[in-house]
This record gives sequence, C-alpha cells and structure tokens, in this order.
Amino acid sequence: MASQFLQEVLHVNRLTIEGGVPLEGSVRVHGAKNAVLPILAATILNRGVNVIHDCPDLKDVRTTMKILTHLGASVKREGSTVIVNTEGELTNHIPDALMREMRSSIFFMGAILSRCKSARISAPGGCELGPRPIDLHIKALGEMGAKIQESHGYINCEAEHLVGTNIHLAFPSVGATENVLLAAVFADGKTTVTNAAKEPEIADLAAFLNQMGADIRGAGTGVVEITGVKELHGAEHTVIPDRIVATTYLAAAAATHGNVTLTNVIPAHNTAVLSCLKDCGCSLTIGEQSVTMRAPRVLAPLDYIKTLPYPGFPTDAQSPMMAMLTVADGTSIVAETIFESRFKHVEELVRMGADIKVDGRVAVIRGVPALSGATVTAMDLRGGAALVVAGLAANGLTEISNLQYIDRGYEDIEHNLRSLGARIRRA
Ligand code: EPZ
Repeated sequence: MASQFLQEVLHVNRLTIEGGVPLEGSVRVHGAKNAVLPILAATILNRGVNVIHDCPDLKDVRTTMKILTHLGASVKREGSTVIVNTEGELTNHIPDALMREMRSSIFFMGAILSRCKSARISAPGGCELGPRPIDLHIKALGEMGAKIQESHGYINCEAEHLVGTNIHLAFPSVGATENVLLAAVFADGKTTVTNAAKEPEIADLAAFLNQMGADIRGAGTGVVEITGVKELHGAEHTVIPDRIVATTYLAAAAATHGNVTLTNVIPAHNTAVLSCLKDCGCSLTIGEQSVTMRAPRVLAPLDYIKTLPYPGFPTDAQSPMMAMLTVADGTSIVAETIFESRFKHVEELVRMGADIKVDGRVAVIRGVPALSGATVTAMDLRGGAALVVAGLAANGLTEISNLQYIDRGYEDIEHNLRSLGARIRRA
C-alpha cells in the first residue's frame, strides 16, 4: 500500500467503513505525537546526534522533520526511529509555508532562541480549533529577557542571553510550558514555572532534555524548576505512548460493543477516560503497559463531561468519546472548556443520525439506537477520528474525506483498525 506520504501527494484521502462489526483483538499504540513534536524541536539544543525511538510516521512529524532540515540539521528515519544530527551551524528562521503546515510548531521559538540567540518565525495564526493565541508564550519569554516584536505576520525574538526568573502562566498552556522549558535550559540561573501544564508529554520532553544534560525538576506537576546549564549533548529516547490514540481505539471498541486489548499504553496517563468508560459499563483489566476492555451490549450515558487541563478529561478525547456517546442508552452532556471551536464534528455526526444539540461550548447528546453510514468530512484531527468511531458503529457504509487531518495524528489508522476486525480501507 502506498505510504501515507505518497497518499497525501496523490490526494488519496478517503476512508470507507462498513460499520456494525464489534472490534475484537489486540493492537499496539504508537508513540505520542504531542510528545515527539517538542522532543524533535529540542534536538537543536545540543550539537550532537539524537536518537528518538517509537517516533510515529505522521504528517505533523514529517513537517517537523522538514523544519529541522530547513534549520540545518540532518534528519533520517530508520523504521520507527528518527536520528537527528544537529552538529552543524543552524539558521534561526522558519519560513511561513512550513509554519503554516503545522500550527503547533510554536515551540520551535524557545528552542531556536536558546540555540541561536534570536529567532524569526511566522505567527501560527488561527486553525481549525479557533484562534491559536500565543500571548502566554510571548509574555513568558519576555519575562526571561527576550525582546519580541511581531510584524508583517512574523515574530522576531532577540535574546543575547536569557535570565532565569519566576514565571506564572495565567493558563496551564501545554505549548507555553514547553516553550519555557526549551528557552530556560541555558538561561542564567533558575527558572520556576508555576501553574505549568501537567500533561505527560511535558514530563516526556523534560526527561529527554535531562538525558541531554539539562537540570529540570518537577515536570508533570504544576511547578517546574529549570536550572540553566552551559551546554547539552546528544541523547537517545523512547517516546511515551499516545494516550489520545489509545482513547480513540477504546471509544471505537466501546461504540461497537467489542472486546479489545491495547498494548504499549501507560494506563496512568488515561485515568479520566478509563473512568468514563467504566461509568459507561465497560469492564476494564489494567495491566502494567496494557488495557483490556470488554464493552457492554448497551452503553450507559455520561451525565456530564467537562474537558480540563491534565489530569482532567482531555480536550483531545472529547470528540471520539462523543461519537461513542451518540449510541449510549440515554443523554450525555459534554462541555468543551479548552478550545473555542471544537464541535465541528457534531454536524457530521448528525448527518449519520446522531441526536446532538450544541449551545456555545456545551453539547447535549441524546443516544440513538443506531447511527447510519453516510458521506462525511473531517474538519480537524480529533473530529476526524470521531467520524471513524461513528462509522465503525454505524449500520451501512460511511465514507470520510479530508483524511489529511486524521493522518496528522494517527499512523496507518486503517491498518490498525483492520487488525481489530474493522471493515475499513483507504479508497
Ligand atoms: C497542545 O496544544 C496539543 N498540541 C493539543 O493537541 C491539545 O489539544 C492542547 O495542547 C491541550 O491539551 C500539541 O501538543 C502539539 P494550549 P497547545 O496552549 O499547546 C489557549 C491534538 O489534537 N492559549 O494548552 O496549542 C489556547 O487558545 C492537538 O493533538 C492562549 O490563550 O494547547 C487554548 O484555548 C490539538 N494563549 C488553550 O489555551 C497562549 O499563549 C489551551 O492551549 C496559549 C494557549
């Protein structure tokens, strides 16, 4: 089968699903997109060879590898391992076209600033989830002594040297926390971040930085301390499993009343989702690095889910779990508190027979006996995943277009789901 890259070029971007088959069997969860992206950016902080294992082959990862190559690093993939050599001279500028390919590459700002003392990147701009402001990033780096000005759609940062200080984030932003970590590793003295994001991907980034020789404590908690060091060396690292991919597979298994085992998971990273699945009547067996879930014949609804910063219910899990709730036996309510516009999948689910009413950031989902297959369009990454979950549960044929969104976060989704018995293929 043509590689995902080829399929993007050939624009083969439709999934067809013959739904109604309970998912059965075992599938391995790949490395976490939201950990590997900042980790790849962090490789420019040393002048060495970095070996990153379990690096999923995703569109966003390929874009990040293109950015590293543009900056002057040498990057190659060997299976699921990516090797990044950053010994040479690096440029400090990311062109607009590359930045536009991936809104969330803003964490290169901190990394380039640390390595090159100045950075020129284009503003990430809005995206499918609504505006992607970076005020918290700008404020934090400014407090460390960076001179930042935005003009003509570009952000220009200068900082001969960054000074450690106390930084309080008004919101526990994942990206802003990552940018501060990347900017603080060489800063003079100690930087303390309070109200830091606690997502596991932050702890994984810090683990990689510490393997390079950084001095970071408390990552994964609300208070992170970074003590500046003189230089860092190349490191080897295995990326944590993708907790949102795990959630998506479990939501699909629950929606199809199946029985699956996920391997290469860290159950502790998924407590909020696992608790919801239990409340829906799923029986869960939690292993060291696996989760086995048997779904009930009839799913119970969830009275109220509110997306929150980690360890609360993850915003990235909202849409796949909503797709599952469309066929629960009763009414569920979902509040999306993190992003402004993250209900674009609702209209597409309604086309498949779901009964969902949206009022601002709250969606009321009244379960229906069954969805019916339809032709639907992915509008963003996790919304696209929700359509896959719905298509697997629906009676009849579902066709999903705009796969480039889904391919940003799911490696070979059709192959992995087929291994669980799904009747799914890329057109
Ligand atoms: C990261 O995005 C993830 N992306 C997102 O995953 C995830 O949904 C999000 O964290 C929340 O968990 C990556 O890690 C690459 P934030 P990020 O900064 O860093 C507002 C996926 O599907 N905000 O925590 O952009 C912002 O507008 C993606 O894999 C400001 O107001 O998230 C949003 O409403 C989608 N000012 C909220 O905070 C800022 O300076 C959370 O954003 C920064 C953010």
